[in-house]
Amino acid sequence: MNDPNGLVYFDGEYHLFYQYYPHGLEWGPMHWGHAVSTDLLHWQHLDTALFPDEGGMCFSGSAIVDHNDTSGLFDGKPGLLAFYTAHRVTGDGPEDYEQEQCIAYSRDRGRSWSKYAGNPIIAPPGFRDFRDPKVIWHADSNAWIMALACGQSIRFYRSANLLDWTLASEFGEGQGRHTPGPWECPDLFELPVIGGEGSRWVLVVGVGAGDDSWGSFTQYFVGYFDGERFHNDNAPEQVLLMDESRDFYAIQSWSDAPDGRRIAIAWLNNWLYANQIPENGWRGAMSLPRELRLVANEQGVRLAQRFAAELNSVLDPAPQSAEPTPLSRGEQLQLTAQSGPTRGRLNLRLAPESQVELSLLPSNLPELTLQRNDQGLRLRHQRQGENGNVRFDRYYPHDFTLALGEGDAIQLEWFIEHGSLELLVNDGLYSLTSIQFDTLLNSAGHCTTLVVTAGEVLVDRLEIQSLKA
Ligand code: FRU
Repeated sequence: MNDPNGLVYFDGEYHLFYQYYPHGLEWGPMHWGHAVSTDLLHWQHLDTALFPDEGGMCFSGSAIVDHNDTSGLFDGKPGLLAFYTAHRVTGDGPEDYEQEQCIAYSRDRGRSWSKYAGNPIIAPPGFRDFRDPKVIWHADSNAWIMALACGQSIRFYRSANLLDWTLASEFGEGQGRHTPGPWECPDLFELPVIGGEGSRWVLVVGVGAGDDSWGSFTQYFVGYFDGERFHNDNAPEQVLLMDESRDFYAIQSWSDAPDGRRIAIAWLNNWLYANQIPENGWRGAMSLPRELRLVANEQGVRLAQRFAAELNSVLDPAPQSAEPTPLSRGEQLQLTAQSGPTRGRLNLRLAPESQVELSLLPSNLPELTLQRNDQGLRLRHQRQGENGNVRFDRYYPHDFTLALGEGDAIQLEWFIEHGSLELLVNDGLYSLTSIQFDTLLNSAGHCTTLVVTAGEVLVDRLEIQSLKA
């Protein structure tokens, strides 16, 4: 599997569709797989929702609840509408294809799906990359909006009836980061600004693997969407990333999630090696669900992520919090977890000229190094050569340093699951997500080790909790 698709909450269920090739372990003719959950944690597989046919493969897209039967497809009742890209191969070369926007509908809570007889709703434009429709309701201008990835920009279309769409504007030229790869998988939503005034809009944009060794990644823009255009609050060259590591892609948020929450999920992978990673009868997985928020800080208005609160219900009780522990060079702390999957939390203060190494995974090589010197506070993240089965791909090893400013404190929260390390830094202002193939990850009782390699640190909190299920 790859991208999450069609995320929508309807009638007590979270729907999760996904790019799916059921007949092999590498990317192939795309279907929409389907699962539902009432709590975002336990998922029930349903029948494959969309199948490729002579119209093409079913590429990524979104879904909405047509509450008032605006489309006329639901006999006056509410129903589910999915927007997907039909991808049609037109020749033998890698560039021989065309893409168009289509819809499918379900009148039975997503259990069966019909492709609309009037497809496509937006015909191929004459250029190739034209895909991944994200549809939202824009109350202020009383219209449905579609954000669509077009080459290296995002187009916005408007519609009154969900069937006929008019191009309103295009955003992208000179904005954010461009690579030789196409822009993909847009998302668009409004959030209140915590610690600031009113609300701002967020435009999320996946950037397909270019020709560098970083691969696919996701950037976001903060600004104002007026129903026609997206106005970037920041300088066009400013690049904001949804994740600082390698494996958090094709992010999409749920439409109509209860309580106004903006919950998102991502594909834990990177197109650079997605078809080469170790397999176990399947390949590809989703991240944990995360809640997205906007916060105002010295730098401006930024996205902050936190793991969905639902996850607390599958954690063993939190250990008693220990007294803050001062440690100096050569000293260490070690915690042993009960089982493979764990949640960890660490609050730390570093004296000037200090360094701490943290190993979270069973290999006992440090994945994280925290350092404070005259360049400020920095976090180095390494996915090493010896860490599990990493030698499958030359692009897989990773070594990256994140600058965290002038302060002395750092706060980390992470989940280690069967194939992943998901790390949030400083209340989720930074996210570092990486797949991990440590063969020992599923064994019971692995250690988390913190070693001070220079200076002095104060450990305010270090907690490891096992996951119950
Ligand atoms: C992103 C993507 C989308 C496309 C889908 C095809 O990962 O390339 O742009 O719709 O995957 O599976």
